[in-house]
Amino acid sequence: MIGIFDSGMGGLTVLKAIREEMPSIDVLYFGDTKNAPYGSKSREELSRLTIQAIQILRARSARSIVSACNSVSASMTVSLMDTFSLSSEGTPEYLLEMVGPTVSYFKESTARLLLCATTATIKSQMYQNAFEMIGKHVDTLAIPELAGAIEAGAPDADIERVIRTSLEEIEMKNYDIVILACTHYPLVANVFERILGKSILVFDPAVAVAERVKKQLWPREMADGKTIFLLSQDSEPFRMYVELLFPKSKYSIEVLQ
Ligand code: DGL
Repeated sequence: MIGIFDSGMGGLTVLKAIREEMPSIDVLYFGDTKNAPYGSKSREELSRLTIQAIQILRARSARSIVSACNSVSASMTVSLMDTFSLSSEGTPEYLLEMVGPTVSYFKESTARLLLCATTATIKSQMYQNAFEMIGKHVDTLAIPELAGAIEAGAPDADIERVIRTSLEEIEMKNYDIVILACTHYPLVANVFERILGKSILVFDPAVAVAERVKKQLWPREMADGKTIFLLSQDSEPFRMYVELLFPKSKYSIEVLQ
């Protein structure tokens, strides 16, 4: 069984892409809805929550873990754990995260890139440095309120206002692709597309992450295709998105006490 975690419903976009690649993988998904949103938290808080999330998943026998949260990558805990195997029993066999697969995807690209993400992600300079390492430049834009608004199930009109307000600062004709580097944002990709029009491509990194997961974990994780969702606090919008994205799947939702 693989474990996936995020602050809340954002990781569902990654789960969906993984499911499309590997329908018969068993998944334990932890949404830390009680502590969402993560994107405005400090690196220290994010490190603490990351370790906690990994422990929850490991305690329920998830062998390999996918951090479906860019803000968690920004805390660097995930990459440090991966590199140094920080705690022997707590360390998963495989630990995959968002930044590496996303940046690698653009290795051969000559497109002009704008990356939108949470404040924590942009402030960490993680993406900026990673793109520089492959000899590319990326411009960035933090959209501070957006993940929280999506997580709260805000109506489309509010989501559109939040996105428009942030994009107002940007000269959009300078870009070919907008990378949605917060896993919540693809849930409202249609709003981005409406605002940006046809000349700009809206890119969801979940595809690249799912490919990487398949490369590392298939076929060793072949199983029955069941999904268990664990939430740190019940959330109606979370339940709604699960129904919307996985209408035909067998799943259960458990709220941790
Ligand atoms: N979905 C997460 C990310 O990719 C977290 C967003 C948030 O909770 O602020 O950054």
